[in-house]
Amino acid sequence: MGALDGTRVLLVIGGGIAAYKALDLIRRLRERGASVRCVLTKGAQEFVTPLAAAALSGQRAHTDLFDRADEADIGHIRLARDADAVVVAPATANTLARMAGGHAPDLASTVLLATTLPILIAPAMNVRMWLHPATQRNLALLTGDGVAVVGPNVGRMAEAETGPGRMAEPDEIADAVEALLARGAPLASRPDRGTLLAGRHLLVTSGPTHEPIDPVRYLANRSSGKQGHAIAAAAAAAGARVTLISGPVTLADPPGVTVMRIETAREMLAAVEAALPADIAVFAAAVADWRPATFGDEKIKKGPEGPPPLALTENPDILATIAHRQQGRPPLVVGFAAETTDVIAHARAKIARKGCDLIVANDVSAATGVMGGDRNAVHLIGRDGSLESWPTLAKDEVARRLVARLAELAPSP
Ligand SMILES: Cc1cc2nc3c(=O)[nH]c(=O)nc-3n(C[C@H](O)[C@H](O)[C@H](O)COP(=O)(O)O)c2cc1C
Repeated sequence: MGALDGTRVLLVIGGGIAAYKALDLIRRLRERGASVRCVLTKGAQEFVTPLAAAALSGQRAHTDLFDRADEADIGHIRLARDADAVVVAPATANTLARMAGGHAPDLASTVLLATTLPILIAPAMNVRMWLHPATQRNLALLTGDGVAVVGPNVGRMAEAETGPGRMAEPDEIADAVEALLARGAPLASRPDRGTLLAGRHLLVTSGPTHEPIDPVRYLANRSSGKQGHAIAAAAAAAGARVTLISGPVTLADPPGVTVMRIETAREMLAAVEAALPADIAVFAAAVADWRPATFGDEKIKKGPEGPPPLALTENPDILATIAHRQQGRPPLVVGFAAETTDVIAHARAKIARKGCDLIVANDVSAATGVMGGDRNAVHLIGRDGSLESWPTLAKDEVARRLVARLAELAPSP
């Protein structure tokens, strides 16, 4: 017995290098008990043949919208209906754009527009195509529409570049199909299609800031961005439109999230202000409190006079600035307090000082390994002084729980 016994998958193969892996995916899905019917885009046929897809699936592969024989037999509407799930692998940048825009110039895109079945996309493309704001925007629209996403993975690409863009492996995609079908109902009526924060714009800051001393040196901190990025991912999965403003991190962009990259605290504040209005703002970044008072265009030279003095000046307080805005204050403003001693007392003082609605406090002393680690033990402190302490959890789980809490606390859109 396979986990997908009796299920029918419509596999849309897009025109990318990873199309050859879609052939392997057919085999993996069938091994798990699914029957697979394939639609190939024109681009896909440059990489793999309909004959190979037909031979591996044991069913005719479909390619043309205006195929008279097909329309009389199993037209585009039946293709869109006669399955349990639609999988797009590889999902090219072009196909994502068509799906997001509701364009239907060929068989694949017409089927994708006509279907109400659950859809899973496995994006695969060059790193720069993936990171392009247009692709990220399209992805945000699609996840907002309830489309499930698997990958892309980070790794070496065909063009010898490294980064996010590699298609998820066939077994990972098959696992995601199982998860998608386990949720049951079709797209239009799935309860967990991410409606918890649907219609809301959530802004998250994440990671450290880098404050330049000279063109080659900077002041930084140990923030990895893992918690902020996890919150962005969880909010997107819950249906929010998410803008993530991130300092320099080595993490992949969460799928379905618009990412703005900055380096300094002042750039972060400007990016936050540009991203408003928002329904919810979560300030999870570890913003440097100070920056070097002076910044030269030339590298400071080592000399006989010894090390130069490093004078510091205060950075803008992003959380307090946004929480105290007279106009355009997000209705729910959440701060993070990373402390090494007296975590709760410091967080209580901070919530009053900063004017935010909720503080998520954690202990980042060396012993906890929180800074840069994968787990986090947080306390939620409300404006009314309420305190809730969560056990040590994976940062992803902290993010999911926090998103559920934000959905309760945020005023209706
Ligand atoms: C050699 C080659 C490899 C390509 N690989 C990809 C890819 O991995 N991802 C992608 O989005 N586009 C890729 N493209 C571009 C797409 O083939 C092109 O945008 C096409 O219009 C996609 O059409 P489709 O989405 O209908 O399949 C590639 C093009 C060539 C020539």
